[in-house]
Amino acid sequence: MTARIIDGNALARQIRAEVAGRTAALKARGIQPALSIILVGEDPASQVYTKHKVNDSAETGLEATLERYPADMAESALLERIGVLNRDPAVHGILVQLPLPRHMDASKVIEAIAPEKDVDGFHVASAGALMVGRPGFWPCTPYGCMKMLESIGYDLKGKHAVVIGRSNIVGKPMAMMLLGKNATVTICHSATRDLKAMTLQADVVVAAVGKRNVLTADMVKPGAVVIDVGMNRNDEGKFCGDVDFDGVKEVAGWITPVPGGVGPMTRAMLLVNTLEAAERAAA
Ligand code: GUN
Repeated sequence: MTARIIDGNALARQIRAEVAGRTAALKARGIQPALSIILVGEDPASQVYTKHKVNDSAETGLEATLERYPADMAESALLERIGVLNRDPAVHGILVQLPLPRHMDASKVIEAIAPEKDVDGFHVASAGALMVGRPGFWPCTPYGCMKMLESIGYDLKGKHAVVIGRSNIVGKPMAMMLLGKNATVTICHSATRDLKAMTLQADVVVAAVGKRNVLTADMVKPGAVVIDVGMNRNDEGKFCGDVDFDGVKEVAGWITPVPGGVGPMTRAMLLVNTLEAAERAAA
């Protein structure tokens, strides 16, 4: 059996087109959806990511402003700047790129963002809203994974979903979203005794560890849906996920590739959240 591929690039393109349409409708009402991105320091990966976010926004008609500050910026100055953006009605979304320099408390900084502008979905209020099923912003990566499941018409009700990884930005919110769709959810992590015994029961596996070959063919139930959140490099320096794609695709029913899977969806969902923030502010 060879798994069908869930094409993240194609789905992200479709979502960007929808965002562009809804953005045009808001603009026709005189509202320009706007995202403020804050980058502190010179982290090379962060510079690339923030550039992508600005370009993706421009492509869909959203206005994204990148504010860059030196690595030695005082935390108090950053908190003050966030306060100004919180109070600015022309700014709908605020994103502080992580990681922050070591002298800053990332939780304190994220929690300074007004929850209604927290388009990353990293604020404790956003996490709490997701947990209790109230409106709020969902973190972009697990949100993108849910859209991928939706795109194949997958009904999660009563299915066993196994999430590998328990981070606050992927594993935990992913589990909550799956639970919200009535899946039976297991969260596995570094202290899980027998990962294979868990994944072999899974109808859906989401691998979000950040390590190659966490999921191999012998660990997958035939026909399962496999979502690979990992972004690693192999020995040749090529991008690869957490899943042994070549092996697992022979067993799974559906699989997401890396690159071209969850990555583009994460980027697309930030646009969706930003647009949502503007729509909610205009409602
Ligand atoms: N650093 C790496 N990924 C992300 C992200 O999605 N949001 C923010 N704010 N920082 C990141």
